[in-house]
This record gives sequence, C-alpha cells and structure tokens, in this order.
Amino acid sequence: MANKSLAKNHADTCVLVTGGAGFIGSHTCVELLNAGYAVVIVDDLSNSSEVAVNRVRQIAGLVPDDPRLAFYKANILDREALDRIFSEHDVDAIIHFAGFKAVGESVQKPLEYYWNNVAGTLVLCEVARDHDVKNLVFSSSATVYGEPEFIPITEDCPKHDATNPYGWTKSMLEQVLSDLYVGDNEWNVVLLRYFNPIGAHESGLIGEDPKGIPNNLLPYVAQVAVGKLACVGVFGDDYDTPDGTGVRDYIHVVDLARGHVAALDWMAGKVGTGEPRGLGSVAGEPAADGTRRGVGIFNLGTGTGSSVLDVVHAFERACGKTLPYEIKPRRAGDVAINYAACDKAREELGWVAEYDLDRMCADSWRWQSMNPDGYASA
Ligand code: UFG
Repeated sequence: MANKSLAKNHADTCVLVTGGAGFIGSHTCVELLNAGYAVVIVDDLSNSSEVAVNRVRQIAGLVPDDPRLAFYKANILDREALDRIFSEHDVDAIIHFAGFKAVGESVQKPLEYYWNNVAGTLVLCEVARDHDVKNLVFSSSATVYGEPEFIPITEDCPKHDATNPYGWTKSMLEQVLSDLYVGDNEWNVVLLRYFNPIGAHESGLIGEDPKGIPNNLLPYVAQVAVGKLACVGVFGDDYDTPDGTGVRDYIHVVDLARGHVAALDWMAGKVGTGEPRGLGSVAGEPAADGTRRGVGIFNLGTGTGSSVLDVVHAFERACGKTLPYEIKPRRAGDVAINYAACDKAREELGWVAEYDLDRMCADSWRWQSMNPDGYASA
C-alpha cells in the first residue's frame, strides 16, 4: 500500500511522461528538465515523432545519452514494456498525456479510442501501482464541462455529457482516477482540465505537428499562413458572441506545460493549502512526509476568451500577411463560448498563464515557418 514520496528535491525525482513526444508532452518535458527533474518518456510515436525528443534534448542542453532524459517507444497497452520501464527507472510520479485526441475521428473509431485511452490508462495505473507509484497528473480537458452551465467556467461547474467518444474517454478517466483514491488512500491524483493549447516553444524547435489536414483552428491557420492550405474556414458567424464567431480560451503551450510542473510541487505539498474546492476534488489526509493525498482538479486556461476572427487577425499580425477566410456553417458539437476561471490554479498551484494571444501566434508562426512540414522537415 506504499506510494513513492515526492518530498525531495526535483533533481532526485523521476517523472514518467506518457505521450512525451507529443505537442503538450514535449513542451512539458522541456519545463520538467528546466526545473531539474529527471524524465522518462514513453510514447508509441503513433501521432508524434522521435525528432521531438531529440529537440527536447537540444533545448534543455542535454547530450544524447544524458541520464536525465530517457526515451522508450512503447504503447501504454503493452504491460510487459511498461513493467520493464518501471523496473529500469525509479519512477516517482507520472504525467499521463498519451491518448488519441481527434474529436471527429473518435466518432468513427470508438473502439480504438476506448481501448487506447481508457484501457491504456488502466494498464498504466495497474503497472504503476505494482511498482508503488501512485502520484499521477492526468491530461484532462475542458470538454468535460460540455455546454457549460456558466462562464467563466470554475471547477465547480457541473460536468455534462460528452458529445463524442474522445470527450467521454476524458470524462470516464477522471472518474476512474478519482475512484483509485477512494479505493486506496495512498493515491495522489491531479486532473488538469486544459482549455485550448496553442503556440510553440520560442526556439521554434518544437510545436504542434498534426497528421493530415488539421482539425483545430490554430494549426489550420498556421498552414494557410505558410501556403499549404488555401483559406481558413470559419465555422459559424451567428453565435451569440461579440463578432458572431466561437470564443475559446487559448493558452500558450509553454504556460500549460509549466502548470504541470506546478502541479507536481502541489502534490509534493510544497505549495498551496490543499483546500478541497471544486466538484469532485477530494483533499485526503496528507501523508506523514507532508505530501498530498486525494484528487485535485484544476482548470488551466488564461481566463480570456478570443473569437475565431481574433485568432485569424492575431496570426496576421504575427506573420505579416493577410489571411483569406470564408464563413462556413457551424460545426456539430461546438459550443459558442468557453473560457476558464483560473483563480483556483493561481491560489493553490501559484500558477498563472503569462503569454497573450499575440505571443502565442508569434511562437506558432516561428515553429510553422521554420518547420513547414512539421518534424518531417527535419
Ligand atoms: N474553428 C474554425 N475553423 C477551423 C477549426 C476550428 O472556425 O478550421 C473554430 C471552432 O468552431 C471553434 C474554435 O475555432 O469555435 C476552436 O476550435 P478547435 O477545433 O481549435 O478547438 P475546440 O475548442 O473545438 O476543441 C478543443 C480541443 C479539444 C477539446 C475541446 C473542448 O481541441 O480537445 O477544445 O474543450 F475537447
């Protein structure tokens, strides 16, 4: 019934990052290494590239076989591979990003989504438990709020039915991970509900590299800017918003990554009060070493809403070109407005997002123009 202790220096703490070669994962690895942690990446490269891992090393100033960063190409459903990795490394905590994430595709391939995301997480948690690792940060999403009951969205906003299997996997996994704590009070779980992560590392070396035609707004706009796509389709201009287009809370991926580093310090009991606030949060009795137990839930956003046209215009300023756009019908399942209340993360984690939309677009443009074909350009 033991759990690894986080009551020690970052330099003595090893974090296993599933999906660490992906968009948010790679940026989080950089911030973890900057904060002094040792990092073990597990990624099956199904939607990412090992080039990203090499770039993380480059940004963090590590030589290729530096022991502070290890990489394993493995799927989280592969129990034997995970077991070997946990045996080879003294893992203290897990940041779990690995998962399929395309909303539309999840409707066509529910089995693949439930297997990979839900069953994969079950295998990961079982193996982790077998190795006494019960500190876990989970990559959740504002999608769990569905059509939000109020704006800005606090962690007290009730969860609603998801509108697609991807959203259900996030919602279900929040429940699974919360139940782990109920069944075994050694677990220390943080659910981070992301709003809309965009931008890239300021070096231009890592960024978002979607396969095929992007589903999300920012990579689509970036590919129009670089000349790979002709015109931005704006999905609806008749929403009840200032300019009629959908409003979202875009957050710089580096800010988001730093939110994960803050969450680890919170789990270690180094920051915050551990007050149980927010639906579903459970503040357990801290362990004897002062580290937290329970389930902490935090929104990670900026608290600022931007419309689709705000984004297009900010990107125009970043790239110095006029970007063609065309109004299209609304996209099924989209909500009109979605932005976060970020007070809880500020008060408890001591974390706030620093970068504004112009900076997000400038960094995204640098990444896109330096790597027009993503990591395939390398
Ligand atoms: N949009 C366009 N044109 C596009 C793509 C998007 O106008 O080509 C609009 C959408 O209608 C929406 C906004 O841009 O108003 C943002 O859309 P994204 O697809 O970039 O992001 P979503 O808010 O739909 O999705 C994000 C995450 C999901 C998550 C969801 C809900 O990508 O993982 O938020 O929190 F589930």
